Amino acid sequence: MSKVYIINYLAKKIDAKKYLEVGIDQRATFDNIDIPFKIGVDPYVDSPGIVQQTSDDFFIANNEKFDLIFIDGLHHVDQVYRDIINSLGCLNPDGMIVCHNMLPTSEDMQINPFRGGMWTGDCWKAFVNLRQTRGDLEMFTIDVDMGLGVIRRGKQNKVRVDREVNYENFTYHKYDWMNIYSLPAFYEFMDESNILDAMLAHFIQATESPEVNFYMGSHYHKIGQTASAVSFYLRAAERTHDDLMRYESLLRAGMCFNSQGCRNNSVEGMFQHAVALMPHRPEGYYFLSKFYEEEKKWFSGYMTACIGEKMTTRTPTKLRTVLSYPGYYGLIFERAITSWWTGLCNESRRLFHYLSVYEPLDRDHKKATVNNLKFMNGWKEDSDFISFLKTKDQELEVSARDLSLYTNSNINQLKYPFKHVNLVDRNYSEAFQDMFILYLNKGKKKGTYLEIGAGFPFFGNNTYLLESKYDWSGVSIDIETESAERYLRDRINTAVCRDAAQVNYVNLLEECKMPYIIDYLQLDCDPPAITYEILQRIPFDKYSFGVITYEHDYYNDESKSYKQKSREYLLSKGYELILTNIAPRQGCDYEDWYVHPQLIDRALIDKIKNTDSSVKIARDIFL
Ligand SMILES: C[S@@+](CC[C@H](N)C(=O)[O-])C[C@H]1O[C@@H](n2cnc3c(N)ncnc32)[C@H](O)[C@@H]1O
Repeated sequence: MSKVYIINYLAKKIDAKKYLEVGIDQRATFDNIDIPFKIGVDPYVDSPGIVQQTSDDFFIANNEKFDLIFIDGLHHVDQVYRDIINSLGCLNPDGMIVCHNMLPTSEDMQINPFRGGMWTGDCWKAFVNLRQTRGDLEMFTIDVDMGLGVIRRGKQNKVRVDREVNYENFTYHKYDWMNIYSLPAFYEFMDESNILDAMLAHFIQATESPEVNFYMGSHYHKIGQTASAVSFYLRAAERTHDDLMRYESLLRAGMCFNSQGCRNNSVEGMFQHAVALMPHRPEGYYFLSKFYEEEKKWFSGYMTACIGEKMTTRTPTKLRTVLSYPGYYGLIFERAITSWWTGLCNESRRLFHYLSVYEPLDRDHKKATVNNLKFMNGWKEDSDFISFLKTKDQELEVSARDLSLYTNSNINQLKYPFKHVNLVDRNYSEAFQDMFILYLNKGKKKGTYLEIGAGFPFFGNNTYLLESKYDWSGVSIDIETESAERYLRDRINTAVCRDAAQVNYVNLLEECKMPYIIDYLQLDCDPPAITYEILQRIPFDKYSFGVITYEHDYYNDESKSYKQKSREYLLSKGYELILTNIAPRQGCDYEDWYVHPQLIDRALIDKIKNTDSSVKIARDIFL
């Protein structure tokens, strides 16, 4: 068993002399630990050497100090939290704590109380709590045996958790929250000079562990030994209960077969099997479609890419390893190539043009896209293309031509650059709002926002760039069910379907665990009277916002009053108006932009501030 192996491995590293195990059950771990002095605690186990008490009672009476403590008792968050704190109280200075069951692989598995089947409990939440609050500890989780959390005294950057600590959020953020080490990464961290030897020694003691088999596979894969890699991947797929691991094992086995050449049936079978297992994830369709494309099976490739595009999410949870899957646009790219060869030439042209303008392609895809467009004798915008964009995920309400975007080819013209600006391949806002926010926040990572009037998740959206490249979190509100559903499907951060003019913002922000200082507030719900009504509901006495973009829609406001009213209101709340009458294009004076003067650097404000009465085309401000 991996837990036995890892505990003995760590014991040897720190020359542990005294061991405590909380929760003994059949003694499967306890009896196999090679440490001379051992104490076991379990209220329900009556056997030699075991203190028959609850861990709480044991720690009250205990005077002993330990070098290694294994916490594997009652897997409830509060109990495990207490067990860890009590263990720290009797741990020798260089001692270590290992906690079992820190990485559940399904929601059911971590629900309390125990309802049968495989169960980890919700003890992972205790680990997240300490990762947030204890800078004086070093903590990481090894991805074996349902997750072994390791704790010792030291230092860590406290993790920032700004959303509810629930299982769904865990699936997206566990790598950060739990500081997960793959098995090879763990042995590297332990300064093993030969990772393969370290892994093999582990494997010999834990041949049935799915994780160990998986990581043996990924290690052999990395060093180019694909025959060995395949056999380990298949062993992992056969042994695991975790569909995600099975999926990744099958994809990786398919990739290995593919690199061997002449194993086409196996490649196809592995990828098809992966798709069948997780039909809502995009990677399987991508690899399968690409395989068909390389085999010139154009119709199969086209069909696979089309189904993939329709069935899958743009933002799947992370896999254990990085695959050569480029991102969602990979599916669109495969559809573009295969549609050409199936005779759907206009569709192909439109897709390549779409890719070249609207998707953040990597260098290879960009080059191939440009070459393909040249090969197809260029592309002319036609009514089909506009209607294609309009139907594409029904995202494009604004005509594509109205979006004036920044792309990294403009980097040298950018008048207001910021830290990490090289991360931005393109922006998404209609009028450079995202670039404005990042400028004033100095390219901040992990900022926060409240987005009122969510609209589309990508096109013309003010927060997608912040979320996708700068790891911002936040909540978006929209009255349209479709909009909120698209958000929930395609974005990592959350959205709610509510009437923003009825929302109790204090309750909502508390529910979403938002901080009292929020970096960005978007107000954009036409008509202008509604946006103004919503503005008055914002709890400015409790929450402060670094930057505000306010859509008054002056060009569309028959009363011509809301621009002035909103200015007076926001100024009365202490906000400073720094850019007036912003327009995405001629004749469309629609927004004012504000800052909180205590939260934003004065030098940055003064550099960009312009509050004269002119209408300002956003692109001209920034480029
Ligand atoms: C998962 S089993 C332990 C498995 C064992 N460590 C191993 O590796 O084979 C959990 C054990 O925790 C024990 N337990 C339950 N409540 C406890 C408590 N409050 N204090 C200590 N142990 C407890 C149960 O009796 C059970 O034997």
